[in-house]
Amino acid sequence: MNKRTKIKNIFNAPVEMSYTVMGWVRTFRNNQFIALNDGSCLANLQVVVDFESWDAALLKRITTGAALHIEGKLIASQGKGQTVELKAEKIDILGDCDPEVFPLQPKKHSLEFLREIAHLRFRTNTFSAISRVKQTLFYGIHKFFNDRDFVNVHAPIITGSDAEGAGEMFQVTTLDMNNPPKKEDGSINYKDDFFGKATNLTVSGQLQAELAALALGSVYTFGPTFRAEKSNTTRHLAEFWMMEPEVAFNDLHDNMDLAEDMLKFLIQYVLDNCEDDLAFLEQRLIDDEKTKPQAERSEMTLRGKLKFCLAEPFQRLTYTEAIEILKNSTPNKKGKFQFPIDKWGADLQSEHERYLVEKHFKKPVILTNYPADIKAFYMRQDDPKEGVAGPTVSAMDILFPGIGEIIGGSQREERLDLLLRRMNEMHIPAEEMSWFLDTRRYGTVPHAGFGLGFERLVLFVTGMTNIRDVIPFPRFPGNAEF
Ligand code: 4AD
Ligand code: MG
Repeated sequence: MNKRTKIKNIFNAPVEMSYTVMGWVRTFRNNQFIALNDGSCLANLQVVVDFESWDAALLKRITTGAALHIEGKLIASQGKGQTVELKAEKIDILGDCDPEVFPLQPKKHSLEFLREIAHLRFRTNTFSAISRVKQTLFYGIHKFFNDRDFVNVHAPIITGSDAEGAGEMFQVTTLDMNNPPKKEDGSINYKDDFFGKATNLTVSGQLQAELAALALGSVYTFGPTFRAEKSNTTRHLAEFWMMEPEVAFNDLHDNMDLAEDMLKFLIQYVLDNCEDDLAFLEQRLIDDEKTKPQAERSEMTLRGKLKFCLAEPFQRLTYTEAIEILKNSTPNKKGKFQFPIDKWGADLQSEHERYLVEKHFKKPVILTNYPADIKAFYMRQDDPKEGVAGPTVSAMDILFPGIGEIIGGSQREERLDLLLRRMNEMHIPAEEMSWFLDTRRYGTVPHAGFGLGFERLVLFVTGMTNIRDVIPFPRFPGNAEF
């Protein structure tokens, strides 16, 4: 039987008793002090070895990265830095680790280097802390929705539809690429493909979530989604996890309230449950920023920034109001934006989103009622409004400091005739989407939902700056390693 005590639990365990621990050596100091980590928490357990009574050959095998099984007595620590330590009575080497070739040394490695050895980076403090914070967020999401009687729905990963209508999809096929079956006109005949039609990896589970919401009331999906966009940025992944709630009878305002409540709950949940990991990540950020010019350093600490988001309501304003602010902003007038804002209808770039959040309002922002032409076909069409230059839809994007868009959502177009007209205008094939349109044919109701980019949330909460550092094995253009 495995009688191992997790290191997390040993710090509060009664002393003068014997325990078995297992983990990996972080450091071995003076042939005497082993810092042992088992991933259950940030802290290492100090194991004291009375080196005179141990075989020198065994001590030589206690190297950084080696896996050990240790039995010993827990005692109040003599030294500084820890309250208890384990006095080793039995040491088994479970797995040797040759320090000559082990890539992780007991020193600070750059995040770029760690990305190249992503298969080993779980063993660093930074990645283990991020992984535990991520677990807390993952659990927190399920808790938040479960407590509110939402039903989790599994959307398919292989689909025949393009939910966002953006066409940036990875194709799924078992056809022989060198010799695909052809139709008379020379195009590929997908009738002979595995599913009897062309299929792709899903870009969003929303359409399926809508089907479920119009029966179960309140649902959410949470799973991997895929985008074949060639975005080589610190905020884009080709494979990321999205959480998408969908609620019958909700309008845009209910949708904003739900999203804001959820984000605040999750931030508080991490503050309450990840104290040590957040403290570590906060210090990491401070150290990291010391290398940057003063102007680029953040004014707040990591936890300061998280608490700040909880303190006040998010700023809510329409796209039209935002365009006015951006048009008259100093960077726009001085030509500092890469994409100058000259007219209503322009899509907002991340530089604009960040200006609104970080410079103008200095808090999270919810932008609503975007021009219909820059948003997806399923968003509810607004009534024309005086002073607004063109047709808008009941969209909402939530913008966060340092991140930009963290959530995108909308109230959905529940009126069949208006939806069909919009699909026609946007060249979305209505025949293929008949199953989706049935929701509007049989007992349609107002409803709304949104998508949270899970890694973007993790990025924000951990204070990391590159999304490739908050997912174990990032997929992006030119990279599918590990
Ligand atoms: O704004 P998006 O494209 O919205 C949808 O897919 C809707 N169907 C959601 C809904 O209403 N149910 O994506 C939603 C969120 C974005 O706000 C962003 O946080 C994240 O998903 N996201 C990405 N995260 C990482 N890498 C990418 N390439 C991302 N694209 C979107
Ligand atoms: Mg979006």
